[in-house]
Amino acid sequence: MSSLVIVGAQWGDEGKGKITDLLCEQYDYVIRYQGGNNAGHTIIVNQKKIILHLIPSGILHKTCTSIMAHGMAVDLESFISEISTLRENGVTIDPGNLKISPYCSLITPYHKLLDTLRESSSHYQKIGTTQKGIGPCYEDKTARVGLQLQDLRDHDLLLQKLKDNFKEKETLFDHLYKTSYPSIEEVADKLFTLGRIVLPYLEDTFLLMVKAIEDKKKLLYEGAQGVLLDLNYGTYPHVTSSNTSLGGVYTGAGSPEGEIKNILGVVKAYTTRVGQGPFPTEIHGSLSKQIQNLGKEFGATTGRLRRCGWLDLPLLKYACKVSNITTLTLTKVDILILLNLPFIQVCTHYKYRGMTLDSAYQGLDLNAVEPIYKNMTSFKDNFKSDTFSKELEEYLSLIERSVGVPVERVAYGAERSQIKNYRSLI
Ligand code: IMP
Repeated sequence: MSSLVIVGAQWGDEGKGKITDLLCEQYDYVIRYQGGNNAGHTIIVNQKKIILHLIPSGILHKTCTSIMAHGMAVDLESFISEISTLRENGVTIDPGNLKISPYCSLITPYHKLLDTLRESSSHYQKIGTTQKGIGPCYEDKTARVGLQLQDLRDHDLLLQKLKDNFKEKETLFDHLYKTSYPSIEEVADKLFTLGRIVLPYLEDTFLLMVKAIEDKKKLLYEGAQGVLLDLNYGTYPHVTSSNTSLGGVYTGAGSPEGEIKNILGVVKAYTTRVGQGPFPTEIHGSLSKQIQNLGKEFGATTGRLRRCGWLDLPLLKYACKVSNITTLTLTKVDILILLNLPFIQVCTHYKYRGMTLDSAYQGLDLNAVEPIYKNMTSFKDNFKSDTFSKELEEYLSLIERSVGVPVERVAYGAERSQIKNYRSLI
């Protein structure tokens, strides 16, 4: 069996954590390759809610080794708090089952401060970030002045790198934002002390994966956020600062076995988005509130309410192309049932400048498209039989025909067990 990549096919929060958790047992390694603690993967095990921000979902499975590869941005406080919460819940974490690349980018307190200041400043367009310092940290990486986890090994080197890294930021804090900030020495001491906890986990994860492939081990790549938040393919500038699409695997972790053939896209039966940015099928008013309540649509990381809308097939088709998605898993169909509406809507096309489009594309002005909806009879299903109700089958079949990708599974609740295979029609 070759590797599997799991990506979010919308704007994140599609339920990737649950699906990764379900499939982990079949894999030896579970690898996160981009993003940081802006992600929040919620997994319900025995009615207990576990939210993972940095650590791969494989950590909950005794047979898996979890890898945080070099494409990730790591916040030490978040990492330490996460391992302690997991341990309190009986999860074993040690350098034997968690490996972290020394080349991961290090998030500093200055990154977090800058992220927060920008979000509240009139100098910048508001993105609605998680304010975890992700953007500023990746900016430093791209500018070749960033710090890496390996820099935590030597206090003097860390201090020097922080000093170099701080020169421009100091000007911004003093003159543009006129704000106070912790001293370099204070930050260096704190990071160095916290770094003691992460150092034992550091190992060259690419070499580890090369060896794993030689030993015929199976790799699962766990994406964070969703394709529409990709820095290159997403709804720029309202995106995150990493490559959330398939490409992120190659740059953020490497694929020692070469071409990856299985890419599983996770898609919610409706659409949600956190933060600013265009959202063609957004629903306003009481129906949106109902979906938020029933679907518990608030961020696992920031607690912010998610904006809700109907399923958008032109965007899904685009996301599938961008990430070469080979199969889809549809999540949260139970929420559409609980809504108890006579019919539900699905956007099948856009009207755009006199044209009818069945797919979005890079750079398409999503603020200017007009969604064309198909009304579908609401489905009811108790998921007890081997088949699905006729109405739900119609919904699944419309998705498959529109997007050209088979739906492989349908999830209808938060528990591990609430998922069913679907006999794809294409
Ligand atoms: P950042 O990643 O914190 O820089 O935020 C950039 C955009 O990505 C904002 O709109 C965030 O709400 C969104 N975002 C980041 N992480 C997630 C996630 O895990 N789920 C959903 N949206 C996210």
